[in-house]
Amino acid sequence: MKTLDVKKVALMSNTTPFEPMLNLSKALNSAKLFIKRDDCTGLATGGNKTRKLEYLVADALKKNATILVTIGGIQSNHARQTVAAANKFNLKCALVLEKVPGTGGDDYLQSGNMLLDTIMGTEPHIVPDDKDCLEYALALVEQLKAQGEVPYFITVGGSDPIGACGYVECAFELMEQCKQQQIKLDALIHATGSAGTQAGLIAGMELLGADTRVIGVCVSKPETAQRELIIDLLEPMSEALGFDLQSAIKRIDIKDQYYGEGYGIPTTAMVEAVKTLARHEAILLDPVYTGKAMVGMLDMINNNEFSAEQNVAFLHTGGSVGLFAYKDLFK
Ligand SMILES: Cc1ncc(COP(=O)(O)O)c(C=O)c1O
Repeated sequence: MKTLDVKKVALMSNTTPFEPMLNLSKALNSAKLFIKRDDCTGLATGGNKTRKLEYLVADALKKNATILVTIGGIQSNHARQTVAAANKFNLKCALVLEKVPGTGGDDYLQSGNMLLDTIMGTEPHIVPDDKDCLEYALALVEQLKAQGEVPYFITVGGSDPIGACGYVECAFELMEQCKQQQIKLDALIHATGSAGTQAGLIAGMELLGADTRVIGVCVSKPETAQRELIIDLLEPMSEALGFDLQSAIKRIDIKDQYYGEGYGIPTTAMVEAVKTLARHEAILLDPVYTGKAMVGMLDMINNNEFSAEQNVAFLHTGGSVGLFAYKDLFK
């Protein structure tokens, strides 16, 4: 596979499992359901940022960075994985985290990802309510430079054309697993936020010439805004990797009716979907991303979007430590 002139470092030791969800398929009397377990990447409880960080950290090292700087919400899985990656490569890490409207409480502010960030040795900068998170982080980058550090700024969710290469590679890995297991994969459903995962998967499917649908379930934005994010990533990636941009754009498939009032704000259907997967498959989803994406998958199945002969996979992108930040919902 071509990459964007960046070698990757190793943050995961193996491929992630690709398995059937037999109990759920039977309970729903549905298409054949599978799961790609990117919650099992192995880096500080895993998740989809590991694959992106393999490319981003390589780029940071190439540029002689001494400190990774990134941004996110208080319960950012991306922030937690970034500290973990920094620790593995003896880099410092500064997290700039913002409060998410409609969330709060002691668990949200201190447990889940925040607890793990602290255990791994960072003290996140919490952005004051009247300040913009990105501006705050870019000012910090300048301060760090003045102190003699070489900061490497990672955009929200690690979703730039370099980070998204991690999901080009995931598409390759998944399709190889399908080949080995003799499965023709009709659709792959996942949570889409900062869009690097979806852009990378689309690019990967395009490079492979696979006709698998890549369906992104939005966690924060309406379809038009999400589409723009994906196109902004596909444009530079198509040049660097050599795939047809228009054909990739035609593949964009988005469902935006499942995220409720906004990013990180729980929905009743999300709580039910998390319980459903835990009880049928012993798989723990998360409240912000995969729980809402699973609501989308269950609804699509309910609406007969797939036939009984089709093979449909869910990409588990991690985040289950976030359950502790929302624990009252599940009592
Ligand atoms: C658990 C989880 N799933 C999905 C996503 C969405 O991935 P992307 O930002 O690449 O769209 C994130 C992003 O933070 C995440 O933490």
